[in-house]
Amino acid sequence: MPPEAAGADRSAPPAVRVGLPSPEDTRSWGERLGRVLRAGDLVVLTGDLGAGKTTLTQGIAEGLGVRGPVTSPTFVIARVHPSLVGGPALVHVDAYRLGGLAELDDLDLDTSLDDSVTIVEWGHGLAEGLSEDRLEVTLRGHDEREASVSAWGPRWEGDEARALLEGLAEVA
Ligand SMILES: Nc1ncnc2c1ncn2[C@@H]1O[C@H](COP(=O)(O)OP(=O)(O)OP(=O)(O)O)[C@@H](O)[C@H]1O
Ligand SMILES: [Mg+2]
Repeated sequence: MPPEAAGADRSAPPAVRVGLPSPEDTRSWGERLGRVLRAGDLVVLTGDLGAGKTTLTQGIAEGLGVRGPVTSPTFVIARVHPSLVGGPALVHVDAYRLGGLAELDDLDLDTSLDDSVTIVEWGHGLAEGLSEDRLEVTLRGHDEREASVSAWGPRWEGDEARALLEGLAEVA
């Protein structure tokens, strides 16, 4: 890929879109997304109040094979869900009340973000500094819900990662 094409990718990542008519669709799509994720990955979840961020995280948790239950972390800021299958733990963060993600380092989670998959609800504008690689999942709509995914950083460049992401756009 010529350098100017790589630069273009960085400023305008390709978006994957998928329709999510029911909460079950959101959960099962999350499960597929969870199977794509690995240790060190960061997912920033954006969407209005009640858009389905926690429902999606429940699916991701199933795909990863971590211990539940995943609930809204609103009053705890962050929760660690250990793996049941020898994989990475899930760190589920609600940034709604967080002043900045420097505070996340101060939480003293008993796992490092490099060894975990980190999902940040309300992380837009905050979580970007945590990792140069990230997926941004935006949930939209009320009657006709959909998710779109943008991928940033070297983790998501290359044919293999691109194919994984494009696979998420296909209806299972
Ligand atoms: N297609 C859908 N996908 C996800 N949730 C849906 C869908 N349709 C309806 N819902 C319902 O929307 C409600 C809110 O979902 P959820 O708690 O996951 O949202 P949230 O974005 O995490 O909310 P908050 O902003 O409070 O954190 C749930 O009761 C869920 O069942
Ligand atoms: Mg929530």
